[in-house]
Amino acid sequence: MAARHFLTLNDMTTSELESLVDHATALRKEWRQGKLRDSLKNRILAMIFEKSSTRTRVSFEAGMAQLGGSAMFLSPRDTQLGRGEPIEDSAIVISSMVDAVMIRTFAHETVERFAAASRVPVINALTDEFHPCQLLADMQTYREHRGSIRGATVAWIGDGNNMCHSYINAATQFDFHLNVACPEGYEPSDDLIKVHADRVTLFREPAEAARNADLLVTDVWASMGQEDEQKARRDAFSGYQINPELLAVADRDALFMHCLPAHRGEEISADMLEHPASVVWEEAENRLHAQKALLEFLILNRLD
Ligand code: CP
Ligand code: NVA
Repeated sequence: MAARHFLTLNDMTTSELESLVDHATALRKEWRQGKLRDSLKNRILAMIFEKSSTRTRVSFEAGMAQLGGSAMFLSPRDTQLGRGEPIEDSAIVISSMVDAVMIRTFAHETVERFAAASRVPVINALTDEFHPCQLLADMQTYREHRGSIRGATVAWIGDGNNMCHSYINAATQFDFHLNVACPEGYEPSDDLIKVHADRVTLFREPAEAARNADLLVTDVWASMGQEDEQKARRDAFSGYQINPELLAVADRDALFMHCLPAHRGEEISADMLEHPASVVWEEAENRLHAQKALLEFLILNRLD
């Protein structure tokens, strides 16, 4: 049987995603009660990082260890990938020795090519285009606080980047409406909007997008790989900050999320992470639980 991959949220059905999120919550509970689980004993995850990471690396590595397996960190600096060995050759070799591969890289095409040549599941741990693992944690966090997100309104304020793209996919998969507020020239992919046209509304004014929303989300204005654009982006995005004033136009029970790392004083005001509406620290912790559920699903085909 061909391996199942997780390159975008579209690689799973809605019902699989919902079961996975529920399973993640169960795993969190189990872990907090100190119950041990060795479902991935002797299994190995290879982790290829071509960009920096704190949460993704720690959560995948800790998650594998907590399930009885292990994880191997591979950087292009010390593998032949960094010296030009073809992606397909690397995929054939690495996937002949491990049980799953996680990749964080630039072009989305890189994970697609790796997956096409891999014998084992490949997980997209962030590309320039998508960040689906973060959405698993975000959907888990929303559900733990507010129940099903079906029919809710989510406001994305800021850059039409990889996180925004995964929110667009999530809007269809989890059945919510996404309002996106971004400055001209920083819209999410046109092609993606066309596919999800009934789920996404574009705004220029953050307050219009945030009005009565159930969840406000943002991300950095300059993503990894866009360091040279930092100054221009700071100018373009001024006015697109999530702060208590913007939150005041949302639903009174609205939650606030950010995938982190955050820049206080830029996309969020200094007080937002500790605001009563903020669930960012749980959102970050849920990366661990959601990915443990994902690893069990992809490696063992189990969701309980
Ligand atoms: N949110 C997220 O993916 O964080 P890291 O870049 O630290 O992995
Ligand atoms: N959009 C950000 C997300 C970081 C987790 C980036 O790609 O750098």
